[in-house]
Amino acid sequence: MKLFIDTADVQQVKEAWSWGIIDGVTTNPSHVAKTGRPAAAVFRDICAAADGPVSLETIGLTAPEIVAEGRELAKYHRNVVVKVPIIKEGLKAVKILAAEGIKTNVTVTFSPVQALLAAKCGATYISPFVGRLDAHAHNGMDLVRQIKTIYDNYGFKTEIIVAAVRHPVHVLEAALAGAHIATMNFDVLQQLYLHPLTDIVIAQFLKDWKSVPKE
Ligand code: E4P
Repeated sequence: MKLFIDTADVQQVKEAWSWGIIDGVTTNPSHVAKTGRPAAAVFRDICAAADGPVSLETIGLTAPEIVAEGRELAKYHRNVVVKVPIIKEGLKAVKILAAEGIKTNVTVTFSPVQALLAAKCGATYISPFVGRLDAHAHNGMDLVRQIKTIYDNYGFKTEIIVAAVRHPVHVLEAALAGAHIATMNFDVLQQLYLHPLTDIVIAQFLKDWKSVPKE
């Protein structure tokens, strides 16, 4: 299973990459806005810091706009994946970009039939937003399981990126569901390392070690 960091903060990308567990980066317009920097500079820096797929999001709402943006974004680096919203115009653009060999991440996905359409258009990745569904009293991980079943049933190659991850249990459930990838913010990534028993046992071992006679 691959883990992506969901951020536009280049320092976070560099730090998380140094841990050896990160396989890619996803960004979105809100993340870029938070940096306070021009998008082009952010995109260049992230592509330089990451040795894996980097999703950069389009903002156009018509297929010609999205295709034009996607072609420009793809020029930043060979690792760029063009992130496209799951609207009719977006999926028209995905079909065109896929035919040109440009990878796409179809985002803002909330239903399994939306995901079916994205796969039919040749999406490289599909991003169901589990945390946002949970926040509205749905079970976001049910959506992931349904997409997985549909893709397996028909042999679609589109990879599932579990997105809008809020806590480690989302990562656990994504792994158990067989999702290819989970993308999450820096804080959730750090939480994956933690267990209070680990700290207690290490402290006990170090304390006991002090009583071992010196040679
Ligand atoms: C993923 O690609 C998205 O950028 C991200 O997960 C969006 O989730 P959020 O804005 O609900 O955190």
